Amino acid sequence: MPRKLRIMFATATTLGLCIIIFQLRLILYDRTRLSSSDDDIPVVLWWTPFGNNNLVKTCGNAKCYFTHNRAFENNIRLKSILFYGSNLHIHDLPNWRSSSVSWGLLHEESPRNNPILIHEKTLNLFNYSSTFSRFSDVPLTLLDLFSLKDLIGKSYYVSTKEKSALIHAKNYAPVLYIQSDCDTASDRDRYVLELMKYIRIDSYGTCINNARLEDRFKNNYFDILNNREFLSFVAKYKFTIAFENAICNDYITEKLWRPLIVGSVPIYYGSPSFKDWLPNNKSAISILDFTSPKALSDFLHKLVKNDSAYEEYLAHKLNKREYRVTNSALLRALERRSMTLPYEFGNYMEEFECFICEQIQNNCESKIRKVTRKQYDCPLPRDPITGGISKRNWWIDQWNIEKCGAKLLAHYITNNISINTKHFNEQKMNMYDNNEC
Ligand SMILES: *[C@@H]1O[C@H](CO)[C@@H](O)[C@H](O)[C@H]1NC(C)=O
Ligand SMILES: *[C@@H]1O[C@H](CO)[C@@H](O)[C@H](O)[C@H]1NC(C)=O
Ligand SMILES: *[C@@H]1O[C@H](CO)[C@@H](O)[C@H](O)[C@H]1NC(C)=O
Ligand SMILES: *[C@@H]1O[C@H](CO)[C@@H](O)[C@H](O)[C@H]1NC(C)=O
Repeated sequence: MPRKLRIMFATATTLGLCIIIFQLRLILYDRTRLSSSDDDIPVVLWWTPFGNNNLVKTCGNAKCYFTHNRAFENNIRLKSILFYGSNLHIHDLPNWRSSSVSWGLLHEESPRNNPILIHEKTLNLFNYSSTFSRFSDVPLTLLDLFSLKDLIGKSYYVSTKEKSALIHAKNYAPVLYIQSDCDTASDRDRYVLELMKYIRIDSYGTCINNARLEDRFKNNYFDILNNREFLSFVAKYKFTIAFENAICNDYITEKLWRPLIVGSVPIYYGSPSFKDWLPNNKSAISILDFTSPKALSDFLHKLVKNDSAYEEYLAHKLNKREYRVTNSALLRALERRSMTLPYEFGNYMEEFECFICEQIQNNCESKIRKVTRKQYDCPLPRDPITGGISKRNWWIDQWNIEKCGAKLLAHYITNNISINTKHFNEQKMNMYDNNEC
């Protein structure tokens, strides 16, 4: 019952060109196995197990068989191979790339998990994508924001007066930081350390720790991050540092949404275009709007002292209900998604599966599709304070080495050469050392 009804894209062709018309359509899942009578049903193979397995699914007018079974690799009905980005490894790829079998990439994670995937040459190997980018075929930009109700609701909300009282009477810092992944491409801790010189920050995670988390939050760090008591605790802070582990366009995680939901103002560093998704123009503070951590701290001190200036950042909680979110693009995106019922974590690959299935059905052969950097746009990491390329950030070497990896991988795959990992890695390092990428 739960996932039976969904609304999906249907595509249509017009004037010989493949023009995709997005059309919402109710579909019914057909959870059946493939039988001998299904000879004409196209096969979609999850190379890295992630989506549905051994299931015939109906998507609009199309029907496809989804499987994890690699025995289908050479099956004549195989039309598409799908990969889950974090589990894609060069030593475990299909034997060869047939031009009649499309490749799809689902990758909602940041490049931290698989840096070869940020490079144009790797991305070009795929025809379709579902990534955090708004430009991907099935965008997952708002994956971590469950609903509009969360955003405007006040179940965790702590008034500005109370927050001020906690600062004065209970020695709370105005700013909260809680992070346990301290070695990141974005080098976020470097910025936090500098900011700390000018404004008090309570840091409860293992990174730059200076405060002790209450015992009730001690177990299962990752579980507590979304539990009600913990959210109520975050809500007591005027500001929460929300720095992503990597800087990519549209890579926005719960780090931004969590403080917005509880009513603590996020101090954000991450997707350069993140403001496009904020409930209102002033819902978060971007570190990029300040020339230095010191300049940012001056601004924060002003807001700490001036309640009405501070509350301008909480319009999504404080305005009249109908004016809480003025960003119509955000409203549209959430509304569209609320129709792909029911939204729950883990089923976001369903829509991509149907997208792929409909592409197969519509057989848009007149138009060759290719994924590009636009659909997974993570530039070389920069120093969060100077904006320069910092030599001490080892992620930069990683980025550059994998650029060679991407070039090599594309060469192997387009020339139908099977990969020997040891040899591949040696060649990659050679290319890197000789500056060939
Ligand atoms: C506080 O902020 C408001 C609105 O941002 C501004 O009009 C006012 O002058 C500020 N008050 C002080 C004392 O700075
Ligand atoms: C934000 O401000 C800009 C101009 O400063 C305006 O064009 C835009 O519509 C505003 N967006 C929202 C969501 O209010
Ligand atoms: C997918 O990409 C491959 C390799 O670039 C290409 O040969 C093929 O025509 C593409 N298929 C589609 C459906 O775009
Ligand atoms: C690629 O190599 C495989 C064997 O590894 C072979 O079966 C296949 O026909 C080759 N494809 C092309 C397009 O050369």
